[in-house]
Amino acid sequence: MFNPSEYIKQHIRTVPDWPQPGVMFRDITPLLQNPKVFRVLIDMFVHRYMDQKIDVVAGLDARGFIIGSVLAYELNLGFVPIRKKGKLPFHTVSEEYELEYGSATVELHADACKQGDRVVLIDDLVATGGTMMAGKKLLERLGATVVEGAVIVDLPELGGSRLISESGLPLYTVCQFD
Ligand code: PRP
Ligand code: ADE
Repeated sequence: MFNPSEYIKQHIRTVPDWPQPGVMFRDITPLLQNPKVFRVLIDMFVHRYMDQKIDVVAGLDARGFIIGSVLAYELNLGFVPIRKKGKLPFHTVSEEYELEYGSATVELHADACKQGDRVVLIDDLVATGGTMMAGKKLLERLGATVVEGAVIVDLPELGGSRLISESGLPLYTVCQFD
């Protein structure tokens, strides 16, 4: 029987030692390049969120923009980008966080969502969970409720998905790599 998660996983490429030695980089570009796989992925997200009274789709820089904006379009909702530091032109809120390789700061426009908005937060992958947790904090600082985080890939050995779930944010993951 057709297993959409397995189908999607088969189209994610592993690049060893990139961007630095020891990192097994999970590359979603083969998935995005294939229109059938891309559609299966977007349909999974659309069906999950279509009846959840979502107000806003938020996407994390950079690959969360690709999936999040298509999902927002399909749900007839607005899309808000959570960007790396220094890219957003208007008033922002910001959060610093640690990565599997380095540290970073993400920012959100102060008018990106309203008090009480129900938001789904999209990225391609959870590793240590720092990016997703920083995005959650930014949205909550604006008074939004983050209904769920959603990613294509979970790397459970790095502990991020457990950290996110323990913080009280439900996390939807399409597939996992050990
Ligand atoms: C990757 C990935 C997630 C984040 C996950 O992005 O797309 O956003 O790392 O890691 P974490 O769970 O440890 O926070 P990256 O920071 O490499 O930026 P990019 O999308 O600009 O390549
Ligand atoms: N972001 C953090 N770790 C990653 C990995 N192993 N593959 C792809 N993106 C990542």
